[in-house]
Amino acid sequence: MEDWSARQYLKFEDERTRPPRDLLAQVPLVRPRRVVDLGCGPGNSTELLAERYPQSDIVGLDSSPDMLRKARQRLPKCSFIEADLATWTPEPDTDLIFGNAVMQWLPDHPAIMRRLLETMPQGGVLAIQMPDNTREPALIFQREVGESGPWADDPEVKAAARDDLPPPEAYYDLLKPACSHIDIWHSVYNHVMGSAAAITEWFKGSSLQPFLSPLDAAAREKFLAAYTQKIVGAYQPRFDGKVLLRFPRLFILAVR
Ligand SMILES: C[S@@+](CC[C@H](N)C(=O)[O-])C[C@H]1O[C@@H](n2cnc3c(N)ncnc32)[C@H](O)[C@@H]1O
Repeated sequence: MEDWSARQYLKFEDERTRPPRDLLAQVPLVRPRRVVDLGCGPGNSTELLAERYPQSDIVGLDSSPDMLRKARQRLPKCSFIEADLATWTPEPDTDLIFGNAVMQWLPDHPAIMRRLLETMPQGGVLAIQMPDNTREPALIFQREVGESGPWADDPEVKAAARDDLPPPEAYYDLLKPACSHIDIWHSVYNHVMGSAAAITEWFKGSSLQPFLSPLDAAAREKFLAAYTQKIVGAYQPRFDGKVLLRFPRLFILAVR
């Protein structure tokens, strides 16, 4: 995956940090020894963990040097490692593995979550949040534009769309045998956006990236114009000109 742009991602920092707050609020641990933030990005989710657990060793892990640079600047007291979470193994004293908005990028993430859970000490917590928005207009339009432009035959563009998440039952059947307690829930956020075009800006920092990164500057412009046209048609302004971005998310909290 192309290096993520930390600056673009942080344009909507308040909204993007709400789900990890909601996830962390459900974590029952009082004083975990080591806490790892998988896919820590620019450190916004890591900062929440450091505030809640000032006595713990807090580690951020990400595969993007750009994101890690930003995270290190923001949180000089935390440790950060560059790694691929698909092959990473936690230290034995890792009591909390937190992964906000990262697992959805790995198609085999259910098996990775099971593996991680199995390595954790008894009472350890695996806490995961993923966007469950592949059936929302904003994501459907990404696929439609990807399939219809001059870029339609580019193998990277063809592979850019995320698969739908498995249903909650699939996570339950896979994870429950390896844990003492599991909590699975959905929240649907309705983010207030300044305009429909702001929805394009939002997704430029996340799910549009794999569509855009294989393209040259002119093709990117064309892709974004076609996408924004569809967004403007589907996301109607409210009485004050603002637009609501409906955003379903899946939360999973498993206690070893
Ligand atoms: C959407 S950002 C989430 C940032 C932050 N956790 C938050 O709560 O806002 C996803 C991050 O996951 C990272 N990432 C994607 N695939 C990864 C992988 N296989 N291993 C480690 N990090 C990965 C990306 O570089 C990006 O920084």
